[in-house]
Amino acid sequence: MKKGLVFAVILALFVALAGCGGKSAEQTSGNGEAKKKVIVGTDAAFAPFEYMDKGKIVGFDVDFLDAVMEEAGLEYELKNIGWDPLFAALQEGKEIDLAISGITINDKRKQTYDFSVPYFESTHMILVKENSPIKNALDLKGKIVGVQNGTTGQAAVEKLFGAENKNIKKFENTVVAIMDLLNGGVDAVVTDNAVANEYVKNNPDKKLKAIEDPANFESEFYGLMFPKGSDLKPKVDEAIKKVIESGKYAEIYKKWFGNEPKVDNLLK
Ligand code: ARG
Repeated sequence: MKKGLVFAVILALFVALAGCGGKSAEQTSGNGEAKKKVIVGTDAAFAPFEYMDKGKIVGFDVDFLDAVMEEAGLEYELKNIGWDPLFAALQEGKEIDLAISGITINDKRKQTYDFSVPYFESTHMILVKENSPIKNALDLKGKIVGVQNGTTGQAAVEKLFGAENKNIKKFENTVVAIMDLLNGGVDAVVTDNAVANEYVKNNPDKKLKAIEDPANFESEFYGLMFPKGSDLKPKVDEAIKKVIESGKYAEIYKKWFGNEPKVDNLLK
């Protein structure tokens, strides 16, 4: 008798939970049609843009994405699938509908993917040990330089020293590249400026410094990345502009970077 009751309660709970899951995975559009949740991919090893904290993906991009999707009226789920898989998944049109991951908009990628309007201005910096003699990008000549594979950091170093250069060591993600620097496997890591600065600031015990070099590293812009021809792009672009114009963007920026963003470059 008792056993039967317990079983009934468990069954009822199970049915209720299954019901909830089903509902939240769908949303209805204006014409009452059920639409699927938008699946967004990321590589959550790129603080402060996206990283894992107590089992959750957090960061500037995560807050920004949330504001944009709310503005666009889209339900979504953010999945940590890793950097190289983001590009493969979007190209094959499988697993994810778009990606946010501090992804730089450039001509090469534009041949294969669509990008949103820009939402963040970036450049590269060189991470080295505090006592390193390296002072600028040209000093990297002949040194072992770590980069995340397939990033614009890799492209920036290849532009200076040639793509065939044997001294460029490519890593699956930026965290392992920095680990290798700490372990002495590479002499420097070239990565996005906000990421380099964040690491130095948050890890004073690691005794690293971040070097800028505007003469050798260009400015670039991040965008959300879509499969070519995605019908989400116009909606998302509209929403991004609204989030920037409304001041919501500045609020999120201040939370993560502590100062006011320069939004003029984004809106032109
Ligand atoms: N902005 C650079 C690029 O697009 C690096 C981005 C790396 N992002 C990441 N989540 N690992 O190539």
